Amino acid sequence: MPTPTPAERTQAPDSRTGFGVDVGGTGIKVGVVDLGSGELVGDRLTRETPSPATPDAIAEVIREMVDHSGWDGPVGVALPSVIHDGVARIAHNIDASWIGCDVVELFGKHLPGRPVVLLNDADAAGLTEVHYGAGEGIDGLVILLTFGTGIGSALLLDGRLIPNTEFGHLVVEDITGRGFDEAEHLASAAIRGRDGLTFEQWAPHVSNVLRSLEDLLWPRAFVLGGGVSEVADEWFPLLENRTPVRAAVRRGDAGIIGAALYAAGHAGLVDLDSTLSPDSY
Ligand code: BGC
Repeated sequence: MPTPTPAERTQAPDSRTGFGVDVGGTGIKVGVVDLGSGELVGDRLTRETPSPATPDAIAEVIREMVDHSGWDGPVGVALPSVIHDGVARIAHNIDASWIGCDVVELFGKHLPGRPVVLLNDADAAGLTEVHYGAGEGIDGLVILLTFGTGIGSALLLDGRLIPNTEFGHLVVEDITGRGFDEAEHLASAAIRGRDGLTFEQWAPHVSNVLRSLEDLLWPRAFVLGGGVSEVADEWFPLLENRTPVRAAVRRGDAGIIGAALYAAGHAGLVDLDSTLSPDSY
C-alpha cells in the first residue's frame, strides 16, 4: 500500500485514519491517527477535564474538540471505566453519574449521526502496544499494566483484546506487613509520588503485583506503561518476577491511538479480530 500523502491522511473517514479520545482525571486528549503506522497525524489536542466530570460535560468537550479537528468519521473514546455494550459500569477519576449512562443516547445528543464507541483506557493502550508497540508479535497471553493515578490493565491473547480486566483492583498482600490492599493502592505511580518512594523501595511492590498475576495467569510477557516506563532502565532491573517485562513504547498517546483503532474496528474499517500488521489494512 503506498504511503498516503499528508492531505490524504487528514481525509476522513477511510481505512487508514481514525480518531481517538483519551479521557483522564485531569485532561482530555484527542488526535487523528494513521492506522497503518499507529502514529498521530498532526498535533494532539488537549483540554482540561471539566469538573464535575459528568457524561454531558465530557461529551460536550469532546464535541467541541471533534469539531475543532474537522473530523467526520467514527470516534473512539477511552475512559477509566468498565464498558459493557456501551454502558459504563464503574467510574474512577470521573463522575459517578457515568455509571449506567448509555453512550449511544449521550453521543446521539452531542455528536448526532456519527458512531461513537467507548472502551476502557488501559484496554486502548493495550491494543496500541500489541498492534504498534512492545506487545507486537508476542503469541499467547500478554498483560499490559499502566502505572499512573491508578493501575490500569489490558489482557491480550494472540493480539486480541479480552476487555475490561481490572487488575489494578486485585487485592494483594502489602509487603510492608500492613495487611492487604488493592494493587493500585500499593504500587501505582501516584503512590510512589505520594510516599516519596525511591525505585528501590517501589519496585518490590510492583514485583509483588506481577507475581500475584503470574500465580493466576502466567502470561508470556508483561508490558508496563505510564510515565515511569520512560525511565524503565532505572527500575526494570530491580523487578523480581518470573515473566519477561517490556516497557510500553507508545506512552502518552497510547489511549488515543487504541481508541481510534477500536472505533475503526467497530465501524468495520479494520479487522481487529485478526492479528494485524501495519500493512494489513
Ligand atoms: C480504573 C481502570 C482504569 C485505571 C487507569 C483504575 O482505577 O478502575 O478502569 O483503567 O484506573 O486509569
